[in-house]
Amino acid sequence: MSGRIPRYFIDDLLARIDIVDLIDAHVPLKKTGTNFVARCPFHSEKTPSFSVSRNKQLFHCFGCGVSGNAIGFLMDFSHLDFVEAVEDLATFAGVDVPREASDHPNSAPKKENVSDHYLLLEQVAAFYVESLRTNEAGKKAVNYLKSRGIDDDCAKEFMLGYAPDEWQALANRFDQHQLIQTGMLIDKDGRAYDRFRGRIMYPIRDKRGRIVGFGGRVLDDSLPKYLNSPETSVFHKGKEVYGLYELLRKDGKPKRILIVEGYMDVIALAGYGIHNAVATLGTATSQAHLDLLFRFSSELVFCFDGDNAGRVAAWRAMEATFSALKEGRQIRILLLPGQHDPDSMVREEGGEKFGMRVQQSQPLSDYFFSTLSSELNLNEMEGRSQLINKAKPYLEKLPQGVFREMMFARLNELTRSSGLDVSVKSARLAQKPISNKSQANRPLPLTLARRVMALLIQHPQLIVKVEQKEIIWEGLEFPGLQLFKDILTDVLEEKPANTAILLEHYRNHPNEKTVKVLASLALFPQDQKVDAEWVENEFSNGFENLLVQARKEADFQKLLAKNKKH
Ligand code: UTP
Ligand code: MN
Repeated sequence: MSGRIPRYFIDDLLARIDIVDLIDAHVPLKKTGTNFVARCPFHSEKTPSFSVSRNKQLFHCFGCGVSGNAIGFLMDFSHLDFVEAVEDLATFAGVDVPREASDHPNSAPKKENVSDHYLLLEQVAAFYVESLRTNEAGKKAVNYLKSRGIDDDCAKEFMLGYAPDEWQALANRFDQHQLIQTGMLIDKDGRAYDRFRGRIMYPIRDKRGRIVGFGGRVLDDSLPKYLNSPETSVFHKGKEVYGLYELLRKDGKPKRILIVEGYMDVIALAGYGIHNAVATLGTATSQAHLDLLFRFSSELVFCFDGDNAGRVAAWRAMEATFSALKEGRQIRILLLPGQHDPDSMVREEGGEKFGMRVQQSQPLSDYFFSTLSSELNLNEMEGRSQLINKAKPYLEKLPQGVFREMMFARLNELTRSSGLDVSVKSARLAQKPISNKSQANRPLPLTLARRVMALLIQHPQLIVKVEQKEIIWEGLEFPGLQLFKDILTDVLEEKPANTAILLEHYRNHPNEKTVKVLASLALFPQDQKVDAEWVENEFSNGFENLLVQARKEADFQKLLAKNKKH
């Protein structure tokens, strides 16, 4: 991808669009008072608690706690990453996204046009499909697919094709330079030739259906069995999974997603009516893969061959996923018997039985403890203490929350010990219904500093009230002081036109969550009549009081320190 999207553009974009129109196009809104409401699209509910504010340009759900600006809405609602959401929002506003010149002096002349790449890869895929049907050697490929039980519908669904066994099949038909940039040609000493020859071709599509690369399989036992597109500006193996687009086309919100190892596994399962499988592309499952998949489903089932390599791979996957675990996210492990992979398994026993195996797969917590204790004798103190030593380093990686507490509780139970990480408070917590939003909903105590900050975040134009003030920060101390100063400086210097823009400046910032909460905080009793003047007074007085209090505290501390010396 070319350079970064400049910040001024994002600020302008957020000032230009109206979040009410944007959200209304996806979730019909009803006007009540100054806000617009709907039933929340992010959790199921009977009465609307999802509200959109035109003034702040933010959405917020009082039920599940989600909130954000227009970019955040598109990211959550349409499962987009940040850049994609900005691109979609720009399309909504009818403007083009500019890019900052890249830092690399060499990259400028090689400017790649990414949308042309997608177009080219689409045409290449169509050419491969065509060769599968018409090329003389394509017949061999069709027969091979048939011999593996792949029927016409399945081949169509996955857009399977055939790369002719020629050195220049693509080079003679499409733009050479672009073929090289998309990894379809190998460029050796100025001579370019087709990367994929005489192979069954599997187009790899991103979640929006754009072809980003290919996998290609030989028709016999020769090696390498599979070739894959190299990393290009549109293809990143660590971020894409095979089969996601095809899966989402069948079901946009699958109950669970199966993660298998091979292209053929995904296709064979689909052939037996199991449409919720994806495969990583010959790489280990990455954090980005997990984040991607958890956007669509709260349950992932890792499926591995039952042999030794499969067992090792399962443990590795478990290690890699551990720190991504939290309540509301489920991971299960399915080890197949013997030498089976999902392809051979489903062919042997059919879709229904395979579905049962998935149902009965092991929750990650069970898998974790049973694997760790498989060679230990928990009836002896020795064994129990070994289990603690083995398990603790993993559990300590878990993010704070209910899941972590439950895992520690389980360890305590298994080892009949107490203490570790589990306090009385957390035992009580663990019994509460599990909700992935409970964390966000816990109210912050509303100190004066927070109230003043929230007023400013929600009404950034209030800055004019304190703009001329000379503030002596020296010696001042109160909880949240640094954030207070940061926000003040940001509003002073950037003059964000609304809360949405201010919030955007805190994306991925350590204080993002706090700022978000403050942006949606209800600051006035329901029956309070709030006009502009009232808000201004609240803010000015609050600000004044805060500084006076902090100054008094600072003086008192100084006095204390002085007395200590004597
Ligand atoms: P497998 O060999 O298990 O693939 O490798 P498969 O899909 O089961 O193959 P067949 O057609 O049934 O024999 C799993 C995955 O590892 C990657 C591919 O992504 C493959 O789907 N791989 C494997 C490669 O990239 N290169 C190889 O040479 C082999
Ligand atoms: Mn296989």
